[in-house]
Amino acid sequence: MPKAYDIKEHRYDVVIVGGGGAGLRACMGVASAGLSSVCVSKVYPTRSHTVAAQGGVSAALGNMGEDDWRWHMYDTVKGSDWLGDQDAIEYMCREAMPAIVELEHIGVPFSRTEEGKIYQRPFGGMTTHYGEGIAQRTCAAADRTGHAILHTLYQQCLKNDVEFFDEFFVLDLIMDGGECRGVLAWEMSTGQLHLIRAHRVILATGGYGRAYFSCTSAHTCTGDGNGMVLRAGLPLQDMEFVQFHPTGVYGAGMLITEGARGEGGYLTNSEGERFMERYAPNAKDLASRDVVSRSMTIEIREGRGVGEHKDHIYLHLEHLGAEVLQERLPGISETAMIFADVDVTKDPIPVLPTVHYNMGGIPTNHRTEVVTLRDGDPDAVVPGLMAIGEAACVSVHGANRLGSNSLLDLVVFGRAAAHTCEEVVKPGATHSALPGDMLDGILDNFDRLRYANGSRSTAEIRLDMQRAMQQHAAVFRDAGSLEEGCHKISDIHASFKDVRVADQSMIWNSDLVETLELQNLLSQAAATMFSAANRTESRGGHAREDFPDRDDKNWMKHTLAWVDGKGKVSFDYRPVHLNTLTDEVESFPPKKRTY
Ligand code: FUM
Repeated sequence: MPKAYDIKEHRYDVVIVGGGGAGLRACMGVASAGLSSVCVSKVYPTRSHTVAAQGGVSAALGNMGEDDWRWHMYDTVKGSDWLGDQDAIEYMCREAMPAIVELEHIGVPFSRTEEGKIYQRPFGGMTTHYGEGIAQRTCAAADRTGHAILHTLYQQCLKNDVEFFDEFFVLDLIMDGGECRGVLAWEMSTGQLHLIRAHRVILATGGYGRAYFSCTSAHTCTGDGNGMVLRAGLPLQDMEFVQFHPTGVYGAGMLITEGARGEGGYLTNSEGERFMERYAPNAKDLASRDVVSRSMTIEIREGRGVGEHKDHIYLHLEHLGAEVLQERLPGISETAMIFADVDVTKDPIPVLPTVHYNMGGIPTNHRTEVVTLRDGDPDAVVPGLMAIGEAACVSVHGANRLGSNSLLDLVVFGRAAAHTCEEVVKPGATHSALPGDMLDGILDNFDRLRYANGSRSTAEIRLDMQRAMQQHAAVFRDAGSLEEGCHKISDIHASFKDVRVADQSMIWNSDLVETLELQNLLSQAAATMFSAANRTESRGGHAREDFPDRDDKNWMKHTLAWVDGKGKVSFDYRPVHLNTLTDEVESFPPKKRTY
């Protein structure tokens, strides 16, 4: 097909791809630093998936009992099953307090204590005194914290005159000799293509939960930035680590916040037993998510699931009383009524572990610069490219993220990205010329998909991928199942060359958008399945039944996975940063698991 595209060119200091919490926090900082910038988002920013975050954002404010950022750091390192980079974790936990106070000052309507302080609730794995007590560390705006934060950040962006390209789909990164120099984007409402040049590109494109059949993620969570990074020949990190949230609504997948258990909710099996007391005698229902999800799966497998098919678990909130439910958990009370037909003041909610978060993503340092393995240097910075939020793997979550550390990651590293840009980008610096054939490969791929005339619809291929991921890259994994999963994903990836796109128009072509998203998802699905087969140990969210123990001798390292255009995955590794950032805290040596 002829490349008859009229491409409009723009020049900025910084382009931010993604309008969720991380992207908007970065935009706000970049704009107030006096850099020219634009936020490119495939949805209207206030529809980004951050809006769905419920339970809260962690910070050792100590509003509701004693707390210390070092305890938060310890919990995060332990929760990561020792795979988190301790310099980045220190940065996040120390910066949590100023980041949250700043959110309060710009207008986030947090719930309040009697004295008017920010209300904080307990969340899984958050402790005091290095595991001794239970911390109340998660700052909440009822159970709609993400909504409150996202809308406030958007208002601040408007106040700071941030420029937005809303409902633009970014097709690819402009890579020139290993350096990122901008993006090519498609404006979905007009069909116009835009070459957006910038000295720094910040990817804030979120996770790829939609690679799975059942997830709490929005349909837009297709990890588009991760897909672009793979096409640029760069690796993704720790893709085998996928978090299952214990309480997705059975059958529908919607999130029921961990805050529900933080407020005193508990799980029972078909015998009415509070089974978490057996698996995690100390933390019980507030053990970390990997532990609770595995325990629920074991209960169901051993025949103690509830319901007609004994295939789910009950979450009880009835005992909390209508007043508490109305004040602290109004959103999930409504969700339970709409999606499970349950009145939470009277009956338990049917729940099941559901894919919720990707610990893996684009490797970065704590300054949010993308890194790769180059000439033996495991921390080599990729010039011009940065990543934040769920798209990135900083890695503060390691093998398992603690609940409420995700909203924190967004605001702390969104802010850090703006600081880095302020430090390294000179406002208004000249953009040197790009090689003439720079866009050819991107347009070839776009045209190939736009005019694809195969025998399989995008929806058919996507469903095959989602089923294979759900079945084989599951809560529990073993070599046999993963090997079968690798074969299936390879075949599904290969079948993409036979895809059919029925609509060839350039305006609101959702068929083509979904096909571009599927291309991104397929490479991430391959990275996840093959990385899971490759890692022969159990750690955090990666539970191998054939290798039940953590193996620090051989596997205390980050997986780097490259995926080529045919879906072939290759590996290398980066060391875990066991060093801290400052000498105000010592690093935490790995400990045996105790719950
Ligand atoms: O359960 C929740 O409210 C989710 C929070 C999180 O994933 O951080």
